Amino acid sequence: MTGSFGSVRVNERVHWVGAVDWNLRDFHGYSTSRGSTYNAYLILADKVTLIDTVKAPFFDEMMARIRSVIDPSEIDYVISNHTEMDHSGALPRTVAAVGPRKVFCSAMGAKGLPEHFDVGCELTPVRDGETLSLGDADVTFLETRMLHWPDSMFTYLNQDKLLFSSDAFGMHLASEERFDDELPAGVLKFEAAKYYANILLPYSALVTKLIGKVTELGLEFEMIAPDHGPIWRADPTHPVRWYARWAEQKPTRKALVVCDTMWHSTERMGRMIVEGLVAGGARATFMSLHGGANNRSDVVTGLLGAGALIVGSPTLNNGILPSVADVMTYLKGLKPRNLIGAAFGSYGWSGESVKQLNAMLEGMGVELVGEGVRSLHVPDEEALSACHVLGTRVAEALAQRCATE
Ligand code: FEO
Repeated sequence: MTGSFGSVRVNERVHWVGAVDWNLRDFHGYSTSRGSTYNAYLILADKVTLIDTVKAPFFDEMMARIRSVIDPSEIDYVISNHTEMDHSGALPRTVAAVGPRKVFCSAMGAKGLPEHFDVGCELTPVRDGETLSLGDADVTFLETRMLHWPDSMFTYLNQDKLLFSSDAFGMHLASEERFDDELPAGVLKFEAAKYYANILLPYSALVTKLIGKVTELGLEFEMIAPDHGPIWRADPTHPVRWYARWAEQKPTRKALVVCDTMWHSTERMGRMIVEGLVAGGARATFMSLHGGANNRSDVVTGLLGAGALIVGSPTLNNGILPSVADVMTYLKGLKPRNLIGAAFGSYGWSGESVKQLNAMLEGMGVELVGEGVRSLHVPDEEALSACHVLGTRVAEALAQRCATE
């Protein structure tokens, strides 16, 4: 027992010296119910190198982990793969405490870091494809602009075939375990998908391009070490294959029905649409927003791999419910592609919600299947039947789209 934070050996040369944030529950709108980690890595090469730092309040934890391996003053280089504060927040204090000979970052990082704080030293920008010697090992930098910030880059430790992938291939998951093979496969896939849907979805075209570039370069991975969550060592191609598939956003015969409700009328309509979808041969998931049953970030996770988005809201004050507006705003920003969809909702007198939802869906590039379904107050047989028909029509449209893909 040392009574302090320790490091975790990643391989012969690399140690994990990051921090575990057990209590993080919100990452600018993304619900992080399992907390997160901020991963920093120490490469024990001739030139001792620290890859990334941690969120500012976790500086002491990171330093303690570094001290469990070496005297921090032995660090020669710091590489900042990403400017966002969950990885760079502790950089100024690290620079002050360690006094590294150089701090490397991308050209955009050299612009962005000083816009956040006084780093405390000069920054050395590196180019895409540039290799830096660490003495008995070397690293190559790969610019990954807009994945997911302009400054983002990867660092590849050539001798160990180890990719430090910044935010990519990460997940928000606080745990004692540092490696993929120590965690349940279902949790890994769910949290990786949630992370992709909430962080990387808008940049899917760039993800596809990057995977193509990595394949072209013939880069092999023995491990992928992201800045959040576990290190991939069992099969590091696993998350790469997931990303390739998620980035495609190919239409599937799966629909997501999401709604909030006032007196359960809109909810009943949504559940009947699900019945219609299933009767029409589609797979369907129903997500209620009522009372916070599902967060916006769960909705976008549910949408990953779906071909249809069907949204419902009752009319409230000539508009839609705030919970539905929240989700629609969030989804719009994440730019899901290749979706068909529809709207539904109950109303008492004015009944604008369906029209407004249709406009929002169209604004997101969703191809509408019909004008949607409205129901006056509690849905009667006729209204429920119209919901069932809507579900089957969407299922048929999905089947057609999948057949022509
Ligand atoms: Fe984990 Fe973009 O920061």
